[in-house]
Amino acid sequence: LEHTESYSLPLWFYSYSRKRILENTLSLTMLFPVRLTGTKYGCGTGGCGACTVMISRYNPTIKRISHHAANACLIPICSLYGAAVTTIEGIGSTKTRIHPVQERIAKCHGTQCGFCTPGMVMSIYTLLRNHPEPSLEQLTDALGGNLCRCTGYRPIIDACKTFCKVSRKEYFFFFKDLIILERISLKLFSEEEFLPLDPTQELIFPPELMIMAEKQPQRTRIFGGDRMTWISPTTLTALLEAKFKYPQAPVVMGNTSVGPEMKLKGVFHPVIISPDGIEELNFANCSHNELTLGAGLSLTQVKYILGEVIQNLPEEKTRMYRALLKHLRTLAGSQIRNMASLGGHIVSRHLDSDLNPLLAVGNCTLNLLSKKGKRQVPLNEEFLRRCPSADLKPEEILISVKIPHSRKWEFVSGFRQAQRQQNALAVVNSGMRVFFGEGGDIIRELSISYGGVGPTTVCAKNSCRKLIGRPWNEEMLDVACRLVLDEVTLPGSAPGGRVEFKRTLIVSFLFKFYLEVLQILKRMDPVRSPGLADKYESALEDLHSGHHCSTLKYENVDSKNLPQDPIGQPIMHLSGIKHATGEAIYCDDMPTVDRELFLSFVTSSRAHAKIVSIDLSEALSLPGVVDIVTEEHLRGVNSFCILSEPEKLLRTEEVSCVGQLVCAVIAESEVQAKQAAKRVKVVYQDLQPLILTIEEAIQHNSFFEPERKLEYGNVDEAFKVVDHILEGEIHIGGQEHFYMETQSMLVVPKGEDQEIDVYVSTQFPKYIQDIVASTLKLPANKVMCHVKRVGGAFGGKTYKTGIMAAITAFAANKHGRAVRCILERGEDMLITGGRHPYLGKYKAGFMNDGRILALDMQHYSNGGASLDESLLVIEMGLLKMENAYKFPNLRCRAWACRTNFPSNTALRGFGFPQAGLITESCITEVAARCGLAPEKVRMINMYKEIDQTPYKQEINAKNLIQCWKECMDMSSYSLRKAAVEKFNSENYWKKKGLAVVPLKFPVGLGSVAAGQAAALVHIYLDGSVLVTHGGIEMGQGVHTKMIQVVSRELRMPISNIHLRGTSTETVPNTNISGGSVVADLNGLAVKDACQTLLKRLEPIISKNPQGTWKDWAQAAFDESISLSATGYFRGYESNMSWETGEGHPFEYFVYGAACSEVEIDCLTGAHKNIRTDVVMDVGCSINPALDIGQIEGAFIQGMGLYTIEELHYSPQGVLYTRGPNQYKIPAICDIPTELHISLLPPSQSSNTLYSSKGLGESGIFLGCSMFFAIHDAVNAARQERGLFGPLKLNSPLTPEKIRMACEDKFTKMIPKDKPGSYVPWNVPI
Ligand SMILES: Cc1cc2nc3c(=O)[nH]c(=O)nc-3n(C[C@H](O)[C@H](O)[C@H](O)COP(=O)(O)OP(=O)(O)OC[C@H]3O[C@@H](n4cnc5c(N)ncnc54)[C@H](O)[C@@H]3O)c2cc1C
Ligand code: FES
Ligand code: FES
Repeated sequence: LEHTESYSLPLWFYSYSRKRILENTLSLTMLFPVRLTGTKYGCGTGGCGACTVMISRYNPTIKRISHHAANACLIPICSLYGAAVTTIEGIGSTKTRIHPVQERIAKCHGTQCGFCTPGMVMSIYTLLRNHPEPSLEQLTDALGGNLCRCTGYRPIIDACKTFCKVSRKEYFFFFKDLIILERISLKLFSEEEFLPLDPTQELIFPPELMIMAEKQPQRTRIFGGDRMTWISPTTLTALLEAKFKYPQAPVVMGNTSVGPEMKLKGVFHPVIISPDGIEELNFANCSHNELTLGAGLSLTQVKYILGEVIQNLPEEKTRMYRALLKHLRTLAGSQIRNMASLGGHIVSRHLDSDLNPLLAVGNCTLNLLSKKGKRQVPLNEEFLRRCPSADLKPEEILISVKIPHSRKWEFVSGFRQAQRQQNALAVVNSGMRVFFGEGGDIIRELSISYGGVGPTTVCAKNSCRKLIGRPWNEEMLDVACRLVLDEVTLPGSAPGGRVEFKRTLIVSFLFKFYLEVLQILKRMDPVRSPGLADKYESALEDLHSGHHCSTLKYENVDSKNLPQDPIGQPIMHLSGIKHATGEAIYCDDMPTVDRELFLSFVTSSRAHAKIVSIDLSEALSLPGVVDIVTEEHLRGVNSFCILSEPEKLLRTEEVSCVGQLVCAVIAESEVQAKQAAKRVKVVYQDLQPLILTIEEAIQHNSFFEPERKLEYGNVDEAFKVVDHILEGEIHIGGQEHFYMETQSMLVVPKGEDQEIDVYVSTQFPKYIQDIVASTLKLPANKVMCHVKRVGGAFGGKTYKTGIMAAITAFAANKHGRAVRCILERGEDMLITGGRHPYLGKYKAGFMNDGRILALDMQHYSNGGASLDESLLVIEMGLLKMENAYKFPNLRCRAWACRTNFPSNTALRGFGFPQAGLITESCITEVAARCGLAPEKVRMINMYKEIDQTPYKQEINAKNLIQCWKECMDMSSYSLRKAAVEKFNSENYWKKKGLAVVPLKFPVGLGSVAAGQAAALVHIYLDGSVLVTHGGIEMGQGVHTKMIQVVSRELRMPISNIHLRGTSTETVPNTNISGGSVVADLNGLAVKDACQTLLKRLEPIISKNPQGTWKDWAQAAFDESISLSATGYFRGYESNMSWETGEGHPFEYFVYGAACSEVEIDCLTGAHKNIRTDVVMDVGCSINPALDIGQIEGAFIQGMGLYTIEELHYSPQGVLYTRGPNQYKIPAICDIPTELHISLLPPSQSSNTLYSSKGLGESGIFLGCSMFFAIHDAVNAARQERGLFGPLKLNSPLTPEKIRMACEDKFTKMIPKDKPGSYVPWNVPI
């Protein structure tokens, strides 16, 4: 680095015990250039935790070392001067010694794709460095900022629990009656074999850094880069001097506000001031009347200090601190709280700040300082609105904030509601304070402020003024609600949407505050104060909470199996330890190839438009830009076919959605490519019509051909004989794959014979090979596609990946240089599409007892701009729509709508999660109409024993009934239903709901050819085995299962067998990995290869039965017997005729049932998943740990689909939700507090691999048990409020939908905008 006026050292810091000196680094950049690849990059905006590292610093004043977890993607390198950074590589490796955290997360099966694992490990590791025996609260708190899309978190929690004081006694509690049975297993790992945690073995803090901190003079450090200067003052005087000299420079503390702005909004700061270790900013002082907190304290430190203060002061003085503490518990994840400063939080004045609304009502004062002197400004509405007279002056620094203690008769509360309970910005939050004066209930002072309802925190000043002097009673509340609604207004088109929900929350929070104060008043003066009826107290109670507790039950393998036979054993994921040490290599971890280039796409910004012109000149003139690939370069190869529909790689004439690829910039570096891509100027002319919603598609008759129909029995006749007929519909929103590893590829031209290697994160290597070969006009034998592992895919890494790989390969081939393309999270979400939104319409004819005799349905899916897999998705939706029910007369038609969105594609479950939900909604409505419990109507309509599906395939439903019964028993359904009813009758504002849903998931691909698979097995002369097959390892553990297969077939230990990855070079013409059958099909191919080898070797083995594999291999070689064999499986027998509506498309059915219980807050729409019980029929599990992992992971993904995952689009078709900060997948706070999983006893089936069943997708649907439990709770609320009509709830059942469905006087009170009188912020899709 260039250095500096004040200080002449290169920038250096310690990263996992090695000193790193950075040279030629851009001025402000992140940790990743160090290229320790263990730290993963999942979002770049602090929202996923994949990049978690531990930062340690030594404080020479108190002589203490502190450790905290932080998100590397937001850490400016310059801020690390003098810090020790521990990345995953630093805590343990397979080459040295693995750390107990790494060992346990792997052995407890807490990794699947492994992309989130290093971040998880670092969060737990840092927790243990600070608390070697953490509590369960500390544990879930530490993991609150880490997302995992695969596991469903349960195994990760299990791994962490082994470090806690509380051990896992619950196994023995829940299934206590079963432990006497030897064949039943309740554990997937054995704690006894774990390495002990020994804190003395941890890395020491580098002594050099300690000496430096002790000895070095406090001088400002200045780092100068090409475009930016970083100034780190170490004294207050120097800080003030710097701010005086550069008043426009931001004061970067945690960088959690400035960083994302620079990254996402392109804000550029030529100078940055970042104070380091200035004591005057990092102090806390609690005096008689107030607490003063330094602006430089991190939010974690503030949380800790508040906890201490609350312990030490009388309760009445701490009401503000309690309210702040409550918000700090859910504000962001722990990494962000560790980094973000109080000053940065206050000064950035985000509209959804959780602390500012509270501080604004608390008479707080900001202590400011500049070279010109001290100043105090109140933290009030004027400050929050940035009124010049009340704001910081550019040269001023916020030194501290003074928060007065609350007084007797003064009450303060904070409220917030977000899409997810934790680590999610609030939709609306609020701070409220009232002061009564001694002994009375007459309002003397009142302050109310809200976040999320305006450009910054908004105070209801006038309303509060008008309420002064009023007594605290219902009349006051009524007036207050109306005044506040008049003052805090939101236009119908307000950014962020959800306008009516926000308006309702404004008054709901006020009501909660009213009740809360009333309750305290009653406690303080029971005689004078009326207090609350018991029934209403529930408005104030927190939603159900408790420690996570989980149990598992599966049956042990057949005792006839040989002892070393691994089939049926809960073997750890083959890469588990490597995931946990960060040694597992993903596409972007591959080392840079000599002269490698980076490719960045320019995507369309209009949903339906003609491209008038594309101006590349400015972009091409930028330094480092090598080329821009446009359609002109691709002439003749720009078209290709996906499943018979022509598509284009790049668009130049017309675009039909936002996010279509227009051209691709190739530059020497990633930064240069991305900067240049922003400078490509595309001029559009909008075209009509713009079709976004399914309804608009229906109106414009915009469908992909053909329509599909399934018919059984005689629907029209049946409608004539039924007791009742109902008609209804349900909308189901889409879903983002949110694989943690974004689309990634590296294309390397070999420089010889036009050979090209494509390293890519894909589920479909053969397709990538084909599309690259056709784009480069090469035969397929010149193009090889290699996939080591994929960091999650869920259906999203197939066709779109192919398009991007083809363009990247074109660029690589053209320039004869390697080209890498890694999408940012936002680009990935924008370009790739996801699960199809659905509209389901139904007409059901049923009898008084709940039997459905006639069902006429229509499915409409939102397919987006091109066909992709939309037709297959609606077909699978149709074939699976009846779920577990026998409808004797059924007609279902389905259409894929052509709209102006990025084409939707495969996503785990492939049409079934939507189709199944439509059917279950219909059944729920039938039950309501009959006055019967939904589970009764489900049972009465369920398949019984041998039957026939609507496409006339035979089905034996014995295991379905068994799953259902076991689930009802295991969940103690009847008892808990009675308990739920009792709870609901006693609580007005909180309701519980319980629902049980059956599952029949047909497995098969509908065609024999689609199910063929191949494998290649080599035995080397030392007796070791190398196996490869056509399946992709994307977290589901297929490679682990394949090694188990080889081990059983060749009767050799697993340690003897290796698998390097998937490649078109070793196994050609592979099918796509998906549809739950990857292990089934490839396993049969691997088995075939092994049996071929065994047959060849049998004479040799029988000659020397005591020999080793080395002996046999050598003997075979000596006898010229080949030690290499291919294996092949031609696919399950399968057919389906859409002409006749008959066939045998599936090989087998996976059965299951799930029961879920939830609690909802009727005033806010929040919900808590209390308990889920799942029973699954998995046949004979090859690996119960992997299979249970698939069930749970899919269940949680399904729960996300049906409850919190919500995509928002603008009326112009632009996706708003482009990262973890806007799109919420389930986090650790969302998983059911209690989770019980039970596998049915093994059942035999003749055709599948060792009678196993594929489980990748089926569990998704069971997530809808949560949807129906919420439905049940909302229904209870509505019935109590006298609303008896049919309840129509769409998916996802978000807090907004829950709140608005629990209609009450507050939902009625809010102003409603006339449809058409405003342009909404988003269109519901
Ligand atoms: C993933 C993520 C999740 C989040 N979730 C939440 C949430 O749930 N609830 C919530 O309320 N917030 C949330 N936030 C916002 C977060 O609270 C703020 O970004 C953070 O508090 C800002 O603090 P900082 O130290 O990082 O600020 P920085 O980014 O370092 O600075 C922010 C601004 O403050 C100014 N500044 C900082 N200190 C001073 C000072 N002493 N004097 C003068 N000016 C100063 C800077 O000039 C700059 O303009 C989230 C942020 C992220 C990235
Ligand atoms: S990559 Fe840093 S939090 Fe997601
Ligand atoms: S294992 Fe957590 S994201 Fe895949």
